[in-house]
Amino acid sequence: MMNKIKIFKRALSLIAPFHKKIAIFCFLILISQLISAAAPIFYGKTVNAVTDLNQHAFVGSIIILGVIWALRNVISLLRELYEVRNFDYEVGKHLSKISMEKFFTISMGQHHLGHSAIKRNILNKGESAITGTLWTTIYTVVPNFFTMVLPLFFLTKAAWPVALILLVTIVVYIFYSSHYHNVLFPRFKEMDSANNTVNQKHSEIIENADVVIVNAQEARVSAEYDIEVGNNSTLYRQLWSPYSYWYYGGQLFVVIARITAMAYAGYLTFTGKMNPGLFITVVLWIQQSTDVLSNVGTIQRNLAKNIAPIVKYFAYLDFQPDITIPAHPTPLKNITGTIEFRDVSFSYEARTTKDGVTEDKTEDEEEGVNEKQDDENASDKPSTINAISFKLEAGKRYAFVGKSGAGKSTMVNLILRAFDPDKGGVYVDSINIKDVDYRELRRHIGLVPQDVALFDGTLRYNVAFGLENPEAVTPEQLDRAARLSRVSEFFTKLEKGWDTMIGERGIKLSGGQRQRVGIARALIKEPQILIFDEATSSLDTENEARIRESIQEASAGKTTIIIAHRLATVRDADEILVFHHGALVGKGTHDELLANNEQYKELVSSQVYLK
Ligand SMILES: Nc1ncnc2c1ncn2[C@@H]1O[C@H](COP(=O)(O)OP(=O)(O)OP(=O)(O)O)[C@@H](O)[C@H]1O
Ligand SMILES: [Mg+2]
Repeated sequence: MMNKIKIFKRALSLIAPFHKKIAIFCFLILISQLISAAAPIFYGKTVNAVTDLNQHAFVGSIIILGVIWALRNVISLLRELYEVRNFDYEVGKHLSKISMEKFFTISMGQHHLGHSAIKRNILNKGESAITGTLWTTIYTVVPNFFTMVLPLFFLTKAAWPVALILLVTIVVYIFYSSHYHNVLFPRFKEMDSANNTVNQKHSEIIENADVVIVNAQEARVSAEYDIEVGNNSTLYRQLWSPYSYWYYGGQLFVVIARITAMAYAGYLTFTGKMNPGLFITVVLWIQQSTDVLSNVGTIQRNLAKNIAPIVKYFAYLDFQPDITIPAHPTPLKNITGTIEFRDVSFSYEARTTKDGVTEDKTEDEEEGVNEKQDDENASDKPSTINAISFKLEAGKRYAFVGKSGAGKSTMVNLILRAFDPDKGGVYVDSINIKDVDYRELRRHIGLVPQDVALFDGTLRYNVAFGLENPEAVTPEQLDRAARLSRVSEFFTKLEKGWDTMIGERGIKLSGGQRQRVGIARALIKEPQILIFDEATSSLDTENEARIRESIQEASAGKTTIIIAHRLATVRDADEILVFHHGALVGKGTHDELLANNEQYKELVSSQVYLK
């Protein structure tokens, strides 16, 4: 219970800007419920007027009833207008902003390791669980509470034993209901997890539809999906059958209590202690305050349902980024572009367990999520990068070569500070990149990654994306980038030139065209450091040769790293660094390495490097 209150308090603190509005809203509810609770008094008076054949009193009572009804509608109208203006979209918008701000504090490496479908789920479900809890509270809990308590308050004056019977009924019912909810709560959590699994599977199938179709695995994938949905429906049945039993059991108890209270009111009337009008008033109050008990279950269900996603959402908000900006970062305004690795070791192993934004972790597990593994543990596993030291001079061209899995892309990730090394340090212009604002560092780097990610937007949007002010991109900048990246080759085929929509993830472009857009995006920044990670692997040799010339032109005076499996792409580099199983095993020019480096010779002769 304490825990639930804590969760509720924290959820409430997230929507702090709305507290005053919520209070005003609740006040409006109080007024309208007060009016509703006063109505039975005048129903009673009407009945008395009729039995007494007192026309004067009758007219007076029904006029007051009319005013009450009208007033109730006016208050409801005000409430609705207030709600539309102040809550409906605003709270959701506010929470989305909080989630998004958090999203970008998570490091690049943590994003790499997390499962995007799960993260999406946690965000969407977490946000809607918080808004859902708020709506349930202010639209159901608060009005029902007043509906229940106000007649009770009036009854203490009119017939206190009736009030006592009702009070006992309400308290017993709420305890009974809570008890059942505590029993069923673990099943709600289980349902929530099963739901997440189904959603995750669903989005995975949709995202990878091509793979399924190409491999003719439709039947198998559908069957797998059916099993997940089936598990879900079994859980659903197991949850709802006991739920129905206790619900109707509880309702029976309320009926008995209600009849007892009415019988007592009847006794007071027959013994002359109450007039018929007051009897009607009391009966209506009994009705009002016990009617809402049937909502208690639904309210508890709605609130309980939200707890699991809210807890996960909090874990997301509490997730500690492993890469942070130092309090007083060393400025990195203009750089020459030297890059130095000093005894760098790095392993993915220690990190895969550190992803807190995952599913199905208990709260306790979540707490330990960010703890660094002890060194002893980490050193058991072979490192991805092993004690590497080298220095890349500013303005020169370097090639990184090595078999697949040798660690080349990992090195790029370390230069970008997607991850911090486990040992040693990466230096740019002799400054440890841990000491700078990584955003500033990344502004100096143009990266063409192995897989170019494109947005569902125009070609201009995609190419200008990395600029500090993409809206201000000039036609000259675009033309230069298009020429150097050879986007110009297919540019004329595009219907609307720079305004052509290139589709979700660049689906309307060929692999080679996408790579060229990626190259244009990196070159347009004119950064001091350029990194091409297999940037031309999807291009034909003719286009590749042309791009090589462009890269030479664009990279003049910039520190350039080229990672490629084709010999032609790397042989002209000022220096080639050979990596093998995460270690640097040689460096030199093509000829030097060919003469005395076994691994390089092997790469060349084994045709890994196409001539
Ligand atoms: N996100 C990750 N999580 C865990 N291990 C990873 C991750 N990325 C890479 N690795 C592992 O690290 C090692 C080095 O991978 P890396 O991507 O750096 O190789 P590479 O030299 O770029 O290979 P390729 O030429 O195929 O691109 C590989 O064994 C790989 O399995
Ligand atoms: Mg790679």
